[in-house]
Amino acid sequence: MPVLCVSCGPDVTSEPSAKTPSKADALTVFFTGNVLGELKPCGCIGGQLGGLSRRAAIFNRVSKDKRLIIDTGSLVEGRSEQDVIKFNIILQAFRQLYYDLVSLSEEDIETGRNVGLLDSAGSLFNIISPHHRSEANIPAKFTKSLFLKDKTVVVTIAAFDAKSTPIEQVGQLFSSGPDNSSAQVSSQSKLNILILNHCDDAIIDFIAKRIPVVDCIVRPSESDEPIVADSPNKKPFVFSVGRFGRYVCGLNITESPAYKGKPRLSFLTVQVTEELEEDASLVQLYKDYQQLVGERNLLEKYPRFPLSNDLEYTGSESCKGCHEYEYEKWSQKAHAHAYATLERVGSQLDPECVSCHVVGMEYESGFVSEQKTGHMKNVGCENCHGPGSEHIRTEGVTALTEPKSGCIDCHTPEHSGEYAGNEGDFLEKIVHWREPRSDESVK
Ligand code: HEC
Ligand code: HEC
Ligand code: HEC
Ligand code: HEC
Repeated sequence: MPVLCVSCGPDVTSEPSAKTPSKADALTVFFTGNVLGELKPCGCIGGQLGGLSRRAAIFNRVSKDKRLIIDTGSLVEGRSEQDVIKFNIILQAFRQLYYDLVSLSEEDIETGRNVGLLDSAGSLFNIISPHHRSEANIPAKFTKSLFLKDKTVVVTIAAFDAKSTPIEQVGQLFSSGPDNSSAQVSSQSKLNILILNHCDDAIIDFIAKRIPVVDCIVRPSESDEPIVADSPNKKPFVFSVGRFGRYVCGLNITESPAYKGKPRLSFLTVQVTEELEEDASLVQLYKDYQQLVGERNLLEKYPRFPLSNDLEYTGSESCKGCHEYEYEKWSQKAHAHAYATLERVGSQLDPECVSCHVVGMEYESGFVSEQKTGHMKNVGCENCHGPGSEHIRTEGVTALTEPKSGCIDCHTPEHSGEYAGNEGDFLEKIVHWREPRSDESVK
């Protein structure tokens, strides 16, 4: 029995699947969304969740003819040049991961249209959008039939803009089109999934009471983790997928006599952990991304501001002459090779990484590039003590800023999970001053 696509539209993502029907008696609809440009965790600390390259290991647990892979949209956070590069990379990643469907948000459509990527997206996988009215060629729903033993499960996914459209109209989205399987209605069941761009309890209540055709609602994510309300067999089943690609959600569909021919649903959330094997082509795609970021010169284009009071950064070398002891000590610590760390992982041209691994990237006198400002590489003296120009000009008379408070600017929970609560230990590890601290730190 061939897998037939009830809706029409390019079905480029499903591999030839019309071979002998498999005996498996479970289907899975995978959901991701709100990746918000997080192609991969930064790697500043171990144990981080996420990364497009690790999703394949989860999807591939289910054979292609037994699964649907859906992204609910919000691909990037803004519209900067870097966001646009990410947008394009994410589209390619979705294709390489065999996504069946992507529901584009209003922002996704804007971003894609501005850079001419909307048409290509539609040729890579199916797209839907609640904002289809503004974009005539994007439908609001997608339907595909999957086979559960000898039963057909017709899965319809619709996107709905609850901000601009009266909620009553949700029902129309699922009104069946031409029913091409009427001969076998009894062996067919439907699963209707609604992706909402805006949601509150009143909307859920209304749908539960008045639009029983909706089986499942994907609501916008307000947290990084997926949130599940109630059991999957309570209608409608409501969940959100979380943010930044840290989890993959799945709706498992199995046969169940207890549900009188209605398939039984169960819900799973899978953490995208470092233990999952990376997909080689997606690892390469991330390298392509790093290369593009470099070629576009994003680091040099980064907006830079002057420091107040005409101060300037001078680089760690410039402190060495008068503070040799401190300089030597510092150069043996992790901070002194923070830029090499980025080179090791290939992110030394990515402003999103460089900002915390060099001196003063946001300022005119700070780091621009290895070639132009090699002396500003690494986390240097001035990251903590402040810009040194006046201090040097006055040979130490002008005091520098108090250093301890600055740690948290870089040692954030995301990039240094251990820092909060262990400030003392971290400070201990960077000691480069004479202990006990003497008032004659200059020798
Ligand atoms: C907000 C500041 C910040 C940003 C942005 C940042 N880092 Fe880091 N990074 C840190 C801090 C702080 C550490 C040390 C964390 C610790 O040990 O607790 C670190 C450590 C690392 C390490 C581990 C060093 C080691 O060997 O232990 C790597 C690798 C790294 N960062 C890569 C990156 C990459 C790649 C990016 C961009 C995607 C990035 N960082 C962006 C602050 C940052
Ligand atoms: C020309 C010599 C000279 C250079 C170069 C110099 N310092 Fe100093 N620094 C001094 C002297 C002298 C003192 C002692 C001032 C005092 O105790 O009143 C001092 C004190 C300090 C102190 C302790 C008191 C304070 O102001 O917080 C720090 C920290 C410091 N310097 C950091 C730096 C850093 C960072 C650089 C490089 C940007 C640097 N110095 C470059 C001469 C220098
Ligand atoms: C400009 C950003 C920045 C600031 C400010 C900063 N750090 Fe760091 N810190 C880093 C980065 C980046 C690394 C990772 C360096 C590497 O290994 O490549 C790091 C690493 C460390 C490490 C080594 C962690 C390990 O386990 O190896 C310690 C300890 C540390 N920082 C303590 C501090 C303390 C204490 C302060 C404040 C006085 C501070 N840092 C301020 C960026 C910063
Ligand atoms: C990660 C932040 C950080 C970096 C990088 C750093 N320092 Fe410090 N430095 C500190 C802290 C914190 C203290 C201790 C200050 C205190 O206890 O009041 C300190 C103390 C000092 C002191 C002694 C100050 C005094 O009052 O006795 C000097 C001098 C000094 N640093 C110079 C340097 C020089 C030179 C460099 C670069 C080669 C450097 N530091 C790099 C954070 C940093």
